[in-house]
Amino acid sequence: MLIDTHCHISDEDYKNKEEIIKHMKNNIMIVSTASPKDINEVIKLCETYKNIYGTIGIHPEFASTYTKEDLKNIEKYLTHPKIVGVGEIGLDYHYTKENKEKQKELFIKQIKLANKYKKTIVIHSREAIEDTYNIIEKYKAKDTKCNMHCFSGSLEMAERFIKLGVTLGIGGVLTFKNEKKLKEIVTTLDIHNFVLETDSPYLTPEPLRGHQNEPANVKYVAAKISQLKGISYAKILEITTQTACHQFDLKL
Ligand code: NI
Repeated sequence: MLIDTHCHISDEDYKNKEEIIKHMKNNIMIVSTASPKDINEVIKLCETYKNIYGTIGIHPEFASTYTKEDLKNIEKYLTHPKIVGVGEIGLDYHYTKENKEKQKELFIKQIKLANKYKKTIVIHSREAIEDTYNIIEKYKAKDTKCNMHCFSGSLEMAERFIKLGVTLGIGGVLTFKNEKKLKEIVTTLDIHNFVLETDSPYLTPEPLRGHQNEPANVKYVAAKISQLKGISYAKILEITTQTACHQFDLKL
């Protein structure tokens, strides 16, 4: 079994959403909100499809525009049986550096929600890895699980996050020809620290780059990890599925 631990499959992204979901057969998708307005759509997907779970949260892109209602809405659904995490949340200094304090404040508020409801934190971090690390180290409760979606830091940073109990989401970037850092991380570190993801509709893996991504393409990520680590494809699926089930408390 394959688990795509991080994807977005909103109507806005796909005209053929049902087809895309069918391509996954009985494999599992964890669908994440990209914007606060996606929450209801994620809940609906979770309630319609047995193999879809969700994470809900406010992306740092909305740190200056989100409302108290958005946060209340998230809190309301954190008791939903198929909502397995708070995310994606975090810091994005690529998008803007001008509201760093607001981003941090929103990130911390949502970490506290994850602690309160015992949900997994799903982190988005872009050009902000040091601040992300410091906040997680300080505010994440010891028993709160945490996944770094689409990890893009250094090997040293990966090791520091792993020491905090964080798993690394590995996606299509691993298959890119010029990508070196992530290949080094995957080759060096223990396979038990990784979960698979696509971040669909973005970051389409080789050999399909240039096309729109979809959850079923997670198999290319698994194949690349298998090749880099010299571990069979079946074993990669078995281990990453186990890790994802533990990390998101999935009872399959
Ligand atoms: Ni994402």
